[in-house]
Amino acid sequence: MARFPKIIVALLAQMVALAVLAGIVWWLPWVVSPPYPLWALVIAQGVLAAFLSCRMGLPCWWRIIQFSLPVGLYLGVHYAINPVWALGIFLVLWLVFFNAIKERVPLYLTNATTRNALKRLIKRRKSVRFLDLGCGLGGNVVFMAQQVNVERSDGVETAPIPYLIAKLYSLLRGGDVFAMDLWKTQLDYYDVVYAFLSPEPMPKLWEKIREEMREDAVFVSNSFAVPDVEPSEVWSLSDRRETQLYVYYLSDFKTRPQGFADEAES
Ligand SMILES: C[S@@+](CC[C@H](N)C(=O)[O-])C[C@H]1O[C@@H](n2cnc3c(N)ncnc32)[C@H](O)[C@@H]1O
Repeated sequence: MARFPKIIVALLAQMVALAVLAGIVWWLPWVVSPPYPLWALVIAQGVLAAFLSCRMGLPCWWRIIQFSLPVGLYLGVHYAINPVWALGIFLVLWLVFFNAIKERVPLYLTNATTRNALKRLIKRRKSVRFLDLGCGLGGNVVFMAQQVNVERSDGVETAPIPYLIAKLYSLLRGGDVFAMDLWKTQLDYYDVVYAFLSPEPMPKLWEKIREEMREDAVFVSNSFAVPDVEPSEVWSLSDRRETQLYVYYLSDFKTRPQGFADEAES
């Protein structure tokens, strides 16, 4: 099941749940005489689909969606809720979690403990140009802009609603936020590049980082390590989610042409 798109597995789980429920309803008259209230059948469908989803390989938090789907449909039909509401909610969610489907990166936010760790990390430098790749609501951009040794704090974001919030926040409190795809950024300008994305883009992102970032710069990834690359440092934080910060000093990874260093030193 893991090779099918999650949405297909979710639909399959609903269909299997419906088939199981039909079997139960067919058999039930021997135990309890009909009719059966529709709301009870709908809840049973939700519970069965939620149970099956986890078994069929979907991440277990999808149980909430799988349960809500038949129950939401039932409530919508029962109370004759205008479907424009559903469309509206879908649109808002899409504008917030814009990158969840294409980039497989949803929106979740860096916490205060992690921001303080970033502050400790940049303390080692006199002047810092900071970039948050996929800056969400702009919290890191603003926080970094307020540090004394930060000369510039930028963020890029393509999800419309987070971008608007981040833009407004940075206009009020400092830093700069751009409506730009992270793949279109020029990283050589920055001393510290931060990302809190997902496992999916890490291999491609690492290529970009190695190609564009300067040798004296540092890349920090929250929670998601670059596969098959030993980080320069791993910072294990003592927050509730036990955040791991993977720190890559580019000087550890940029291979200079043979003899280059010797010539420079001589
Ligand atoms: C997990 S959130 C992290 C938000 C913020 N950096 C933080 O740490 O609080 C990842 C963000 O990256 C954004 N994102 C994903 N792919 C992107 C892309 N190609 N270009 C710009 N932003 C992107 C998502 O919209 C989301 O807001």
